[in-house]
Amino acid sequence: MEYTTLGRTGLKVSVAGLGCGGPSRLGMRDNSASQEHAVGLVRQAIDLGVNFIDTAQSYGTEEVVGRAVAGIPRDRLVISTKKTLPAADHPNPENEIKKGLEQSLKLLGTDYIDIYHLHGVEPPEYDFAKERLMPAMRRLREQGKIRFIGVTEGFVQDPSHKMLRDGLKADLWDVVMVGFNLLNPSARKSVFPQTVEKQVGVLNMFAVRRALSQPDRLKSIFRDLIRKGAVAAGSVNAGDPLDFVLRESDTAALPDAAYRFCRHERGVDVVLTGTGNPAHLKANVESILKPPLPEPVLRKLADLFGNLDYLTGN
Ligand SMILES: NC(=O)c1ccc[n+]([C@@H]2O[C@H](COP(=O)([O-])OP(=O)(O)OC[C@H]3O[C@@H](n4cnc5c(N)ncnc54)[C@H](OP(=O)(O)O)[C@@H]3O)[C@@H](O)[C@H]2O)c1
Repeated sequence: MEYTTLGRTGLKVSVAGLGCGGPSRLGMRDNSASQEHAVGLVRQAIDLGVNFIDTAQSYGTEEVVGRAVAGIPRDRLVISTKKTLPAADHPNPENEIKKGLEQSLKLLGTDYIDIYHLHGVEPPEYDFAKERLMPAMRRLREQGKIRFIGVTEGFVQDPSHKMLRDGLKADLWDVVMVGFNLLNPSARKSVFPQTVEKQVGVLNMFAVRRALSQPDRLKSIFRDLIRKGAVAAGSVNAGDPLDFVLRESDTAALPDAAYRFCRHERGVDVVLTGTGNPAHLKANVESILKPPLPEPVLRKLADLFGNLDYLTGN
């Protein structure tokens, strides 16, 4: 494993982080895998050198993480979890934050969270998050229950990063979680310059998601792009639109290319990988540790997607 410093937090984190949400939730979405299977995945990640684990109140995986890390010295791990936003008309949103944190601590079996985020904040919710929820987060930090405060965007609803573009103007957040992938590299221009300047830690989500792991979804995205005129018909092979990535690099599969694409982006600290499959986890950690994709491939990807800020890969 390789380790890096997560921005101003100073935390030493593995460049590959385990995501316990997303379409897989450690295999537990739709109850398809057992808790034991999920606990095994978390332990496998730790055995591979991963020390960064991301979960959330809404994923239903905090308890699994708690079980998997029991007995491991706490300071060997960096635990990130998130609070779902209370409704804006909630009579006591501050208390909701406090209650959510207490529940997360209990499920995770720890007395502090390294990074506590407001989860999936959309642009219209930002003022509420800043004015009403941030003070409660600060109080928890003063009490030693959380070490650093983060915010994650709702990438599907906000693929051009409006919330983060506004939110990063003030110096409030220690860490942000950003959607970034080869289909939508717009954070390169609109988010990373600000995080680098302010030394805000960056967690990368959506590196692969569905479009880069399910060939039919990718084809349908390209059909749309061609219909809209965003990609010239004839510039790609409609039956296998990103075939050049595999042909012109040492990549065996698109997820491999997709994780490498993110890992070598300046401004990205931790690339999250979400999976319910132990073989995928092993392969993904290996991908994140591989060298960058060849320059000509990166140039072609930039020609295709460099100016797009509305795809998510979901
Ligand atoms: N707003 C937010 O705060 C927010 C939103 C989304 C995600 N997140 C966090 O970010 C993490 C990562 O995001 P993500 O879930 O979008 O992760 P991702 O790693 O980009 O994509 C995960 C998807 O790709 C598939 N996959 C992974 N490796 C594969 C491989 N080698 N071959 C084929 N398919 C593969 C997984 O299915 P298999 O299970 O079959 O491998 C899963 O469907 C989440 O787990 C969560 O912790 C946060």
